[in-house]
Amino acid sequence: MCGIVAYLGRKAAQPILVEGLKRLEYRGYDSAGIALLDDGSIHVTKTSGRISALEEILDEPHGRDTLGIAHTRWATHGRPNTTNAHPHLDATGKIAVVHNGIIENYATLRTWLQNEGVVFRSETDTEVIANLIGYIYANQAEAGLPDEQSAFEWAVQQALRKLHGTFGLAIICCDFPDTLIGAKRGSPLILGVGNTEYILASDAAAIVEHTTQAIYMADNEMVLVGPDGFHTKTIDNVTVAKDLKQIEFSLEQIELGGFEHHMLKEIFEQPESLRMCLGGRIDAHDGKIKLGGIRDYLRELTRARHVIFTACGTAFHAGLVGEFLLEHLARIPVETEYASEFRYRNPIIEDGTIVIAISQSGETADTLAAVEQAKERGAGVLGVVNVVGSTIARATDAGIYLHVGPEIGVASTKAFTAQVAVLSMLAIELGRRRHLGSDDAARHIEELAQIPEKIERILEQSDHIRDIAAANIEKDNWLFLGRGFNYPVALEGALKLKEISYIHAEGLPAAEMKHGPIALIADCMPAVFVATAGAQYDKMMGNIEEVRARGGRIIVVATEGDRYLEGVADHFITVPQTPELFQPMLTVVPLQLLAYHAAVLRGHDVDKPRNLAKSVTVE
Ligand code: M6R
Repeated sequence: MCGIVAYLGRKAAQPILVEGLKRLEYRGYDSAGIALLDDGSIHVTKTSGRISALEEILDEPHGRDTLGIAHTRWATHGRPNTTNAHPHLDATGKIAVVHNGIIENYATLRTWLQNEGVVFRSETDTEVIANLIGYIYANQAEAGLPDEQSAFEWAVQQALRKLHGTFGLAIICCDFPDTLIGAKRGSPLILGVGNTEYILASDAAAIVEHTTQAIYMADNEMVLVGPDGFHTKTIDNVTVAKDLKQIEFSLEQIELGGFEHHMLKEIFEQPESLRMCLGGRIDAHDGKIKLGGIRDYLRELTRARHVIFTACGTAFHAGLVGEFLLEHLARIPVETEYASEFRYRNPIIEDGTIVIAISQSGETADTLAAVEQAKERGAGVLGVVNVVGSTIARATDAGIYLHVGPEIGVASTKAFTAQVAVLSMLAIELGRRRHLGSDDAARHIEELAQIPEKIERILEQSDHIRDIAAANIEKDNWLFLGRGFNYPVALEGALKLKEISYIHAEGLPAAEMKHGPIALIADCMPAVFVATAGAQYDKMMGNIEEVRARGGRIIVVATEGDRYLEGVADHFITVPQTPELFQPMLTVVPLQLLAYHAAVLRGHDVDKPRNLAKSVTVE
């Protein structure tokens, strides 16, 4: 994915755009650029590398540039170099475009335009959009322009109708120095509406400093922004009335607040974010849980014969925990499927099947496609999503928001614990409606309510966990092992370590180790065991001995007071006692910290790991 931001107002656009790009940098960071409209022409500055590299080559802002567009890129079509960086100009230099998304028919359009004599400079699909608009704009007289539309608007509409694929776009034209056009299909786009200014962006993070009033664009809509207001319509030229919405998070939530990285801030936020997620929803007194977003769906859910969780990455791991929870508490058969597999596997959706998509961003392309696939096959589709108003939140029939505020770190942390908390609430409530006694439900709710405070105690071990990371930092291969509810945590621990420290790590159900991976154990290879008190504790002890006997280095996450494992382990981390089914919300925290400290010790940019972007809006 990429981040786009555009400004039209009375202030100098450049500093606002640069600041906006910094807030969107988590969306992509391999190249960046800015186009400003000044004195009747468009000036583009762009470079490979981070926003900081762009800042170094930008001229001093002069205040005449009150209209501009900007972009931070995560490359899909074409290498991350300066030529391929956005904004892209059309061949005449009159039109500039920034784009988030993928144009699937770009090769056909490019060939057609080249045959018409249009010259291309980059390898990107986006340049096709700029050139298509430019070509239609230049030839509009022949086609006959309707009276009520400007040539610029008309050309944009004609071009958009020819595009297949996804786009969030901001477009300017040097002949219309007072007009900014935005358009959306499949990629997010929000227009921040200030007093005398407008900020169009992929994400509210780039807007909230200037205004908290916004309109959320829907697919196949465009917005025409001028100094005196904005006008929304479909790309087929039908006017659409849009309500102004309040942006739900504050600037403080997206700033570092004294932490060195967003990831660390978000790890430490978990007690508070879980309180926000659980707040107002759980009532230990009467054993009930209120999940307003799915109120109208509860009957159907209670009668469900089959639930399918579908998600990617960390959200998939949360789904695996949810599978254990729902089966254990509500006795509903559950499968958890990678969205990327589900969408292509001709899934069987029978009567009584409910598909639940889990996604922090609500924009992940594979998860969205799985939602569409499930809907087409007649399943009821729900969402467990963090970003309010996101595409998946809108595409699902109903859902439960995480309510944990924005997650900026590319490595997902607080979203995981909140996803598991939401799935825990869902499982308890469905259990209560099916066969769990009220007392049991109340007991589970009481335990759930204590999770935030227990995480606080785990966070106190951050320095100790850094020492463990430091003692093993030269090791290039790690294993993460868990059983039952802690098996998905082992997968998550390995994913965290891989994605930010670039250390190879494998997560496994501990019993699987002896079917192959045990051959890897040698030379003090770190093996992280999530071995908290529970039904399979004795089995875990056996697995630990097997690794110890083969020279592995034993790192254990155990329950407080476990003297036996403390004696056996080379490194020992504790979590407070909690019932097995809620342990993942605790046991994942030390693994998040371990990955964080390892990445910092290895000198990596934790919040912007190489090759990654926060949400994957491409297949
Ligand atoms: O926004 P989503 O929850 O749909 O994102 C899914 C994955 O892309 C995401 O969890 C990814 O695996 C994270 N980088 C993991 O830390």
